[in-house]
Amino acid sequence: MRIALLFALMAVTTGPALAQDAHAVPGEEPVDPYVVSDANAGATPFEGQAMWAAFNEGEGVGRIVDQMLDLSAADPRTAGIFVATDMVRLRRTLREQFCYILNGGCRYTGRSMADAHDEIGLQPADFGALVEHLQTAMTAEGVPFRTQNRFLAKLAPMRPDTVTR
Ligand code: HEM
Repeated sequence: MRIALLFALMAVTTGPALAQDAHAVPGEEPVDPYVVSDANAGATPFEGQAMWAAFNEGEGVGRIVDQMLDLSAADPRTAGIFVATDMVRLRRTLREQFCYILNGGCRYTGRSMADAHDEIGLQPADFGALVEHLQTAMTAEGVPFRTQNRFLAKLAPMRPDTVTR
């Protein structure tokens, strides 16, 4: 019992915290400790390299994430949601998540979708707005429509974990 407690304490105080810090980039704010796992990404990766190539690999994913977030933060429907957000961390973890799902060889080191969104109180319309901006960003990057939809189909099952109202 005491040993189990010790391990639980170690997991909360040292293990995951160190793993998180190891991936943070300068300018990120610390978050409460959590267990780092690819399973937190909320989807399994595609097979092969076709999806990764269609998104123009890491540089393309970076541009898509940036444009999706810039449009969302400027959109009067969702701007307020991002005001207090650590955008440095969000850009990094979203790039990791997209790269992981597109089979670009990344690990996802962010929180689970349920943990990351449980206190934001997102509504269905917020989800729709984000998807709209993601579609705009993918189109600007030249990602074919059918490929966009394959990617969106990976994100759709995460909706209940992000939309809580
Ligand atoms: C399938 C849809 C979505 C995916 C894949 C997704 C992905 C993510 C990821 C990877 C994180 C960072 C996790 C971390 O910090 O460890 C995050 C956090 C966040 N997401 Fe989402 N998200 C989705 C839907 C949305 C929507 C619809 C909105 C609002 C319009 C939104 C707003 C936010 C905000 C504000 C945070 C920061 C939370 C915080 O720092 O406490 N997300 N999301």
